[in-house]
Order: sequence, then C-alpha cells, then structure tokens
Amino acid sequence: MADYLSMGKAELEAERQRLLAIYETKKAEGLKLDMSRGKPCPEQLDLSMGLLDIKEYKTESGADARNYGFLEGIPEARRLFGELLGVDPAQVLVGGNSSLQLMYDIIAAGCKDGLGGTPWNEDEHRKFLCPVPGYDRHFRVTEHFGFDLISVPMREDGPDMEIVEQLVKDPHVKGIWCVPTYSNPDGYCYSDETVRRLAALEPAADNFKIMWDNAYMVHYLEDAPEQTMNIMDACIASGHEELPILFCSTSKITFPGAGVSALAAGPKTFAQISKSLFPMIISFDKMNQLRHVLFLKDKAHILLHMERHKQIIKPKFDAMRRLLAEGLADCGPIAHWTDPKGGYFLSLYTLPGCAKRTVALCKEAGVVLTGAGAAYPYGVDPEDTNIRLAPTFPQLGEVEEATKLLCIAVRLAAVEHLLGA
Ligand SMILES: Cc1ncc(COP(=O)(O)O)c(C=O)c1O
Repeated sequence: MADYLSMGKAELEAERQRLLAIYETKKAEGLKLDMSRGKPCPEQLDLSMGLLDIKEYKTESGADARNYGFLEGIPEARRLFGELLGVDPAQVLVGGNSSLQLMYDIIAAGCKDGLGGTPWNEDEHRKFLCPVPGYDRHFRVTEHFGFDLISVPMREDGPDMEIVEQLVKDPHVKGIWCVPTYSNPDGYCYSDETVRRLAALEPAADNFKIMWDNAYMVHYLEDAPEQTMNIMDACIASGHEELPILFCSTSKITFPGAGVSALAAGPKTFAQISKSLFPMIISFDKMNQLRHVLFLKDKAHILLHMERHKQIIKPKFDAMRRLLAEGLADCGPIAHWTDPKGGYFLSLYTLPGCAKRTVALCKEAGVVLTGAGAAYPYGVDPEDTNIRLAPTFPQLGEVEEATKLLCIAVRLAAVEHLLGA
C-alpha cells in the first residue's frame, strides 16, 4: 500500500472504494460501543467494594464522623492527602466526592472574594490560560465564570512556557489550568524545567493562581508512577508559595461517584479558601473520608491498589496502541497518537480537517468517541485534528473492535479530505 499523501486522484478514489466496502461491512455488524468518557470499568469499581464493609465512625481523636464539624476535613484524611500531594496536612482541605467541584468553588471564590487580591469579577476582561488539548470541564468552569479562554499549546513536557511567560504579563490573566501528570487527553507529564518555570512566574495579576490538578498522579501503566516535581516545593523555593492550588481525588482510585477530593494551598490562600467556603457548607462527608483513610491507609497502600487497576486497564491501552499501529500502517503519515505511561486517555491526531469527520464516521457505525474539539476552549479545535480516546470503560474485546473501526474511519476521512470531497 502506498503513502496516501503521494497518491494521485485515481489511486485515492480506488482506495476510497476499498475502504468504503470495509466500512459498510463493519457498519452492518451493528456495533454499539462507547469510548467517549474516561470512566473506570465495573471490574475496577469492584476493587474498592471493601470500603463499604467499614462501619467505623469514630475518628482517631475520638470525634464522631457522623456529626457536623471539621470543615477542612478530619485530621487523618488531611494527613493522607498531605502525603499524596506532598504538602503539610495543615494546608490540606478534604472535600466531598468531586475535585472538579472544589475547582469550581475556588474559581467562584477568586471571582467574588479575590483570593488575596482584587476579586476577578471586577475585571471585565478577565482571562484564563488553557493548555490545549486539555480537560474540557476545566475550560467550562472558567467559561462559566465569564473568563476569556486563552489557548496555550501543550508540548510533551507541559505547556509552552515561552508563551505562558509572555501571557502572564497581562494583568487580565488570572490563572492557568494544569494537569501535570498523565495529562488529559495526551497523557504527558510536565518536566522539572516546566514546573520550575511555572513556579518562577511573575504574573502581573497579584492573585494569579496555578490550578494544579493532579487527578492522575498515581494512575500509572508502567512499573511505577512518574514523579512530577512537587509544585509547592518549587513555589516555596522561588518565594511564590501562594501561587499554586493543588487538587486531587480518589475518583479513579475508589469510586468516581462516591470518592473523596482534596486541595492544598499556601497558608494565606488556604485561609482565604476556608473563609470563602464557610458560608457554603458546615462539613463535607466525613464518614466517607474516614472509610477512605481506613481502606487506603497510606500512599504505599494506594500504589498497591493502583497496581490492581493497572492490571485491568493496561491490556486495553496496549490493545489500542497495537491496533492503531497495525490499522494505520502503510498509508503514510495520516495520523499519529500519544503513548501515555499512565492516566486515562490517549490522543489521536488525524490530518488537519479530519477529526470531526472521523468521529462522525465512527458514530454512524455504532462507536461513540469523545466529540472532536472537546479538548479545546469553546469546543473548537482550530486544526480539527485531535480525538481523545478513552479505553478504560469498555471490555477488552470492545476496545479492539472499536479501534479497528476507528482505523478505517481515520483512513476514509483522510482519503476523502485528500480528494477534496
Ligand atoms: C484532569 C481531570 N480532573 C478532574 C476530573 C474529575 O475529577 P473529580 O471526579 O474528582 O471531580 C477528571 C475526570 O475525568 C479529569 O480528567
């Protein structure tokens, strides 16, 4: 098979007919597969059912977890997340089941109370930096609060720091979203150099925040998790302790619907956050916090638990990578994809202008993928090239079927594009 990019019209037309025949046969199989969301599969959720056997409600200090109190979380939970995030437990707040909700609350607090500076709402032209491709729901939060979303290209070692360093000179720029370990959707990890440069930023906005969402910090697919440099240590070293707010949750350690989330921040920012949350809630679900502490114990135990997750999901990632390599061989550089060492996604890049068509072809044949463009501010990928693949939820055989169809769709969309169809 020749390189599509060097084929003439007649050859491309013949290839289109060949691909269409395969596509129609696949379509006739009546597939019904969903690879659109980064969800754990039922076997992964089963790993944590032991949580529900825990009936303890007395915390280590003797307090009753069933009652009100401890807005910032029970001490043993703050300690556990302090160990995970690599920060002083006194600067950790343990929340409810969703870290995204904590992020939303923080952006709301910045808008209303300012988190140590002028409330962001008072700046009509407020902006937020969004490394792209990135996590759609981050972008949605800042869009919801009226920020202009400014795209920054993501590289294999993190956001393009040359661009970030320039953009933060603008006082309207109030923060940046970061997924430092196994980023959503590329699966990239920030280099030490990127972390140091972020920590050394001198933004014009006095209350600029680095929203450091370490959602996948322990979700490794290799022998051990990647050790992304600790942003808090780096910020302390550069004298910018109040710059970062760190987030994580157990959504993909235990249960996405019933896990525990946490945040951490410098002492002043932490005090402001606690003050801003005070009118909202008396205390989060401390019984669940206690269950999680007793079940997960410490970081070493969490890593053992994640090893069991890995055994379930790694074969799916491996199958997807193998079938992409097989299905997109011998047709020239019409697509490339990332090779994540952890996390929940990988990114597939089609020829520019082909991602939407590829996703539509898959959908028509019964395979639902994340909408093309979802990983970009306002849902628009200017190049129309990125497709986020999420292989964890479907069964292995389904991942295989879906990937085979996807390869045909990528090829067909490329040929149509080259034909100018
Ligand atoms: C980067 C990232 N952050 C946060 C979340 C959601 O986390 P939570 O369930 O704790 O709200 C996700 C879920 O896909 C994610 O990919």
